[in-house]
Amino acid sequence: MNKKITIAIDGFSSTGKSTVAKELAKELKYIYVDSGAMYRAVTLFAMQHNFIGADFFDLESLSKTLNSIDLSFKLNTATGNADMYLNTINVEKEIRTLEVSNLVSIVAANPIVRKKLVAIQKEIGKNKGVVMDGRDIGTVVFKDAELKIFMNASAETRAKRRYKELIEKGEEVSYEDIYKNVVDRDLMDTTRKDSPLVKADDAIEIDNSNLTKEEQFNLILSLVQEKL
Ligand code: DC
Repeated sequence: MNKKITIAIDGFSSTGKSTVAKELAKELKYIYVDSGAMYRAVTLFAMQHNFIGADFFDLESLSKTLNSIDLSFKLNTATGNADMYLNTINVEKEIRTLEVSNLVSIVAANPIVRKKLVAIQKEIGKNKGVVMDGRDIGTVVFKDAELKIFMNASAETRAKRRYKELIEKGEEVSYEDIYKNVVDRDLMDTTRKDSPLVKADDAIEIDNSNLTKEEQFNLILSLVQEKL
């Protein structure tokens, strides 16, 4: 049972990829990487430097300063999860706001940004034993992953989940804004030129609209066990 594999979990936003990926990594004692957190951290950096806002995006300035961005994950001993650090600052909370969600797909569509983040992701996963979730993990980052999952659920189900999450965190958001964000991001993520969100030919699609978290976890774990 020492064989380590690479597990790529892609899919639409708010399909619960990170929840199941974290649980799997814990069960298998693998590294978990939330690649979306990296795109969110770069977006937060761009917001902090006034390179992006509701109606502007200064891509040139962001590109020029990209090398000064250091991204890392560090274990949060209180939650047992890895938090995202941007230039040594823990930004785990700031990157989850609706403001960041509304701008991240614009930043993530950029090939220069993607090139930098894909290189970091490949490096982290080079020795296998990794569960990574995102949009292009099975199609670009780890094309040879032994197990590829593509997760989906209706936009309504996903918006309801995201709304509940943000409300529980104390954010003041409306369901309509969340739903719009989900639909807008689906469109941007699937239609961008560089590494659009598509199901890899060899990925297994799971629609979890009607699955409990436990059912979904057990289903994916059984797929992992087949590969080991
Ligand atoms: O998984 P998430 O919702 O936190 O991701 C935020 C955004 O980052 C998502 O809308 C698209 C982008 N993203 C991407 O382009 N490629 C990835 N591998 C992960 C995320």
